[in-house]
Amino acid sequence: MNIIEEVKQKSDIVEIVGQYTRLTRAGKNLKGLCPFHSEKHGSFFIYPDQQRWHCFGACNEGGDVFSFIMKQQNIDFGDALRMLAEKAGVEVPVMGRQKEDKDKFDKLYQVNQTAARYFHNILINTDYGEKARSYVLKRGLNDKAIRDFQLGFSLNSRDALKVYLLDKGFTEKELLEAGVITKIEGKDSHDVFRNRLMFPITDIRGRCCGFGGRTFEENQAKYINSPQSPIFDKSGNLYGIHLASQSIRKQDLAVLVEGYMDVIMAHQYGFNNVVASMGTAVTDKQMNMVKKFTKNLVLSLDSDAAGEEAMLRCVEYENLIGNEIKVAIMPPGVDPDDVIRKDESMWKKLVADSIPVIDYTFDMVTSKLNMSTAKDKTIAAGRLMPIIAEIEDRIRRAHYLQKLSRLVGVRVRELETMVKKPIKYNEYGNKKDKSRPAATIRPAFSQPIEEYCLTLLLQFPKLKYFKHRLKPEYFENSENREIFMALSQTEDTEAIKSMLDYTIWDYLDDLLKKEVPSDKIEQKMSVCTLRLHEKYLRGLEMKREVIFAAEAESKGSMAELNKLEEQGIEVSNELREVFTKMSEGGLYRGVINETGKQQEKQKNRKA
Ligand code: UTP
Ligand code: MN
Repeated sequence: MNIIEEVKQKSDIVEIVGQYTRLTRAGKNLKGLCPFHSEKHGSFFIYPDQQRWHCFGACNEGGDVFSFIMKQQNIDFGDALRMLAEKAGVEVPVMGRQKEDKDKFDKLYQVNQTAARYFHNILINTDYGEKARSYVLKRGLNDKAIRDFQLGFSLNSRDALKVYLLDKGFTEKELLEAGVITKIEGKDSHDVFRNRLMFPITDIRGRCCGFGGRTFEENQAKYINSPQSPIFDKSGNLYGIHLASQSIRKQDLAVLVEGYMDVIMAHQYGFNNVVASMGTAVTDKQMNMVKKFTKNLVLSLDSDAAGEEAMLRCVEYENLIGNEIKVAIMPPGVDPDDVIRKDESMWKKLVADSIPVIDYTFDMVTSKLNMSTAKDKTIAAGRLMPIIAEIEDRIRRAHYLQKLSRLVGVRVRELETMVKKPIKYNEYGNKKDKSRPAATIRPAFSQPIEEYCLTLLLQFPKLKYFKHRLKPEYFENSENREIFMALSQTEDTEAIKSMLDYTIWDYLDDLLKKEVPSDKIEQKMSVCTLRLHEKYLRGLEMKREVIFAAEAESKGSMAELNKLEEQGIEVSNELREVFTKMSEGGLYRGVINETGKQQEKQKNRKA
């Protein structure tokens, strides 16, 4: 039994939750006011036989004893585990190599954090910082913004930082690994950042993992950034996410800009839901990060940045977050930073007036064409069809097909024949390849479905596109949820480790070592994804029924009952969708025959 299971077994959720809210009986379950938000009518339930909790009110979430403590105390998994372990009298072993690894990562964060404080101090408190100070003031940043983002200045010196950090007790190896110094064969190592305005980059938990440094000179690369390291991956991070995440969740909207200065200026003016991709084209990892907080995304684009290539990528991202993405187009030659500083109401308007990226693409493509000529109609359809074909959401795809159809005066059917590759019928893969008969697939393991799913994702990075079909809440066990959340940011197992508390590492290693036959893994993953979704919805249904019964008995208000009824309808609709997908993908039980029949029918129809 691993430590996680042991602590779980020895912690009684009823007793633990009972310390935070008064619980009363509701059949074999317990009920109380939700400890996470204020409410008059209890919508918080404990299910002792499953050792789970669920809030049907504002939280609309649930989990096990770990997730309860994590939420209640606002701490991470490891701390929750240690807290519960202490209560239960279980000793959490300090693990050998794993502890070393964990310490190593911690050390690298410490190096960066110490460097950030060093740079910051030079900027705000010393004569050396004078030039940089007047620069940031000239750029319109106020003290609070400089503090919030811990801006700094790196001296024009070969090794000032190196000397400082060595003096603090860090080793040269640690500095090299953290990427604050660099070394050429046969020469002494030296500071990476010299004479630059420093922008510390923090991860989602607010730990400094790297830097961007801006020059004041004309003929140098404007920014240099920390090299890739065990704790830093620029393209997998969003600048400002730590400070923005709460606002993004609250406003249910994220605005994505390009640059450091754009983010800082936005926050200074109270637009706290703004984060930056840091120059590079937006990546999957960044999308997955945003997706944890909202499905609504506005990209702020340069007026000339929006090539058709880029638009195609946007559709990929729309599919990934499961919603349309909007674009706010900046006036020519200015950054969000300039717009906000000059006229914040204009920024508000630009964001409010943002339009769906596909509509924008339509405008862009047709603006250079004369849509009354046959030739240009062909060109427009040729450019737009491939983009439309990528849209996975059927309704939105149909919408844009019709839009194009009206625009060029050609029927939707005929437009569809233009794309060589068949239009995807649903997100669940297999349908596209009709030649391959779908086999009955059962997971080859008897392990619980959550573990199996994680095992596949961990061992087969090419399955990564399944990640966006799963949600953290599908994983009921906190340790699985933790691993999934780390997985949604990266495929790299070392990086995953670095994001997890070391108490989970043993378990993670087990999953990594598990032997999984590598045939048909896409199909296995597909089944697994749907099953997990099904399990989640069934769990919700079951829990909802329990509370429904309890409400009815205690004569809960009509409004409460109606709300529950509505939630119930939503759940059963979603469940129905899952079943449809299972049968469409030829993945439900007894599928071979079914699919065979379908193909037969299709042939007949064609004949
Ligand atoms: P910009 O060139 O738009 O810079 O690059 P900026 O942020 O607006 O900076 P100011 O306003 O000129 O001072 C946008 C982002 O691209 C990345 C940085 O993250 C920058 O904020 N970038 C740009 C680099 O990483 N390296 C570069 O050389 C240039
Ligand atoms: Mn700028």
